[in-house]
Amino acid sequence: MNPRSVLFVCLGNICRSPVAEGVFRHALSKRIGEQAALAWKIDSAGTSAYHAGKSPDPRSQASARLHGVDLSKQRSRAFEVADFNAFEHILVMDSANHINVCALAKHPEEKDRVQLILEASFPGHNKPVPDPYYGGDQGFESVYQLLAQASEDWLDQWL
Ligand code: 4NP
Repeated sequence: MNPRSVLFVCLGNICRSPVAEGVFRHALSKRIGEQAALAWKIDSAGTSAYHAGKSPDPRSQASARLHGVDLSKQRSRAFEVADFNAFEHILVMDSANHINVCALAKHPEEKDRVQLILEASFPGHNKPVPDPYYGGDQGFESVYQLLAQASEDWLDQWL
């Protein structure tokens, strides 16, 4: 069965996971076409609710826009237990996200579906997507590049 549901998770759902969501949808549309991509359920969430309801960080939006990816319609929300049922794949940005999401799992099978997003690009390296929140614009561009490559690598596995 093709995976048709993916949730991207970071801490605030305003910097990294909105980019992951946007760039993945963009990459998927390029591969299978916009119409077919609509059949996929793609979303993002934060392990905290600090920024619930807010748009992605303007720096994330700007760096994505430079690459033709529009994040403006996304709004931050907190990860919830129901997401384990709603999404087949839960891709997290770093080990803290991994711990926080797995702490909410009720079954071992749910934990198995939580993976570091860079695992597809750097298997076995436990490599995080660095949090660019307190850094400069270059951090956002490098996050974009990591997530664009990760999207391609997951799609190579799934399609
Ligand atoms: P994100 O970045 O987890 O990539 O959305 C952060 C956004 C906000 C905060 C931390 C990280 N914060 O502490 O408010």
